[in-house]
Amino acid sequence: MSIDEKLRHLDELRRAAALGGGAERLAAQHERGKLSARERLDLLLDEGSFVELDRFVTHRSTDFGLDEKKYLGDGVVTGYGTVHGRLVYVFSQDFTVFGGSLSEAHAEKIVKTQEMALKNGAPLIGLNDSGGARIQEGVVSLGGYADIFLRNTLASGVIPQISVVLGPCAGGAVYSPAITDFVYMVRGTSYMFVTGPNVVKTVTHEDVDMEGLGGADVHASKSGVAHFACDAEPDCLASVRELFRFIPQNNRALPPAGLSTDPHDRQDEKLLGVVPENANQPYDMHDVIRCIVDDGDFYEVHARFAPNILVGFAHLGGHAVGIVANQPFVLAGVLDIDSSDKGARFVRFCDAFNVPLVVLEDVPGFLPGVAQEHGGIIRHGAKLLYAFAEATVPKVTVIMRKAYGGAYDVMNSKHIRGDVNLAWPQAEIAVMGPKGAVEVLFRKEIESSGDPAAATERRIQEYREKFANPYIAAARGYVDDVIDPRETRPRLISALDMLRDKRDENPKRKHGNIPL
Ligand code: HXC
Repeated sequence: MSIDEKLRHLDELRRAAALGGGAERLAAQHERGKLSARERLDLLLDEGSFVELDRFVTHRSTDFGLDEKKYLGDGVVTGYGTVHGRLVYVFSQDFTVFGGSLSEAHAEKIVKTQEMALKNGAPLIGLNDSGGARIQEGVVSLGGYADIFLRNTLASGVIPQISVVLGPCAGGAVYSPAITDFVYMVRGTSYMFVTGPNVVKTVTHEDVDMEGLGGADVHASKSGVAHFACDAEPDCLASVRELFRFIPQNNRALPPAGLSTDPHDRQDEKLLGVVPENANQPYDMHDVIRCIVDDGDFYEVHARFAPNILVGFAHLGGHAVGIVANQPFVLAGVLDIDSSDKGARFVRFCDAFNVPLVVLEDVPGFLPGVAQEHGGIIRHGAKLLYAFAEATVPKVTVIMRKAYGGAYDVMNSKHIRGDVNLAWPQAEIAVMGPKGAVEVLFRKEIESSGDPAAATERRIQEYREKFANPYIAAARGYVDDVIDPRETRPRLISALDMLRDKRDENPKRKHGNIPL
């Protein structure tokens, strides 16, 4: 064969690989409102940056007539490219080839990509669209999954790992995305469940469809498995690109600086009126965040799961930060099981990847009740406490209003290595709220008084004057300064500038034992 003939042959092979499972299956994929594996990579990566590896890999199975059916690439497109000019490794499963199912060869391609990402310190993005383990390959396929889970685990905290679920994701296959840092899903086309609706019907007699059992909304709002639920694949992939404005390449790199020209000394009058005078009245913490951060730009994570706490990324004076904020608008911003889990996971991501933490605090405490106690609020609340306590990145807190009880300690207090702890003049820092405290301390006195309501009010007033302020904490240095709310942005930026070269570490050990 001449070189020209060889090049023609190579070209034919490349075209065959690009077709995946064939034109008919590709059309079926489009009819379902889904993009192909390669179209997805085109949207995710910078134009023309994708370099494919292992295009010629095929499966080795001969059972069930598989030796007659071979597709170049074996149902997954792997390689590397860039997002905003930064190197990332990718795999994109191709549902048109055996339903994107995972064979030994398919798994080996993913593992190779994972290992290259880890060795070269670059994020890994997996686009998942698969019917799970390739049934014809049996245990070999199960082993392939376990090989992937192991690499996911070893890469955790070393490189950011992002899973985009764009089709079915069933059985043990859900556990690779579950180990990764961020999970994106698309309404109407992506599903995650350990067993599908049919098995559920057989075992528990519950009637549920795919969307109701494991659709994007379910996982983004109820289970918390997904961090983002998007309306369509292009939005979803655009959102993944957005995330890269805030996260670094790896655990030894710093997150990217913001490019905003928002003045560092900008003071916002709106912050004066944002906290209502009545301590029981809610307000939306989003408004506060938008006033403070560069250009009001907040990339919220887990927006619909446990909305009584807000977590997400922003830039402050150009510093990429992770914001953790109580949300008085929902359940008065109380800490419960789900919000503790949500906060803890986010704090640990930020700490692993050198993203400073900014805490905006207005928390009445942990949620009381039988359901919470029996559900393990102690165990879950301890996760958030542990996560903040072990974090060594710059940690700054602003107490805006309530900081009651254990929640005061947990929300990045000075005692667990908060670097800069500020309070607004409206801050109330105490063991519990005035009403609860008065009931405990003065119950007998109030019952025996002629006018219990007036006696209660008098004692509440007294308690407020004594404890419901930031000055006792400030007198001990637990709060570094009490600030005018309008100064919040410049003071946070100043703190982050000051902490830029912070060095802190935890005792050497194999690993801690976070209460899971
Ligand atoms: C081999 C598979 C496959 C699989 C689908 N296909 N899943 N081939 N192994 N796991 C093939 C189909 O035979 C079909 O081939 C093509 O992919 C498209 O599948 P359809 O069923 O026609 O598509 P659809 O109707 O959209 O249904 C998609 C689906 C369904 C919901 C994913 O295919 C399905 O239920 N598949 C099995 C899911 C599952 O139970 N997997 C194992 C989970 S356990 P043709 O040639 O007809 O087009 C698991 C263990 C993981 O994964 C272990 C980790 C610890």
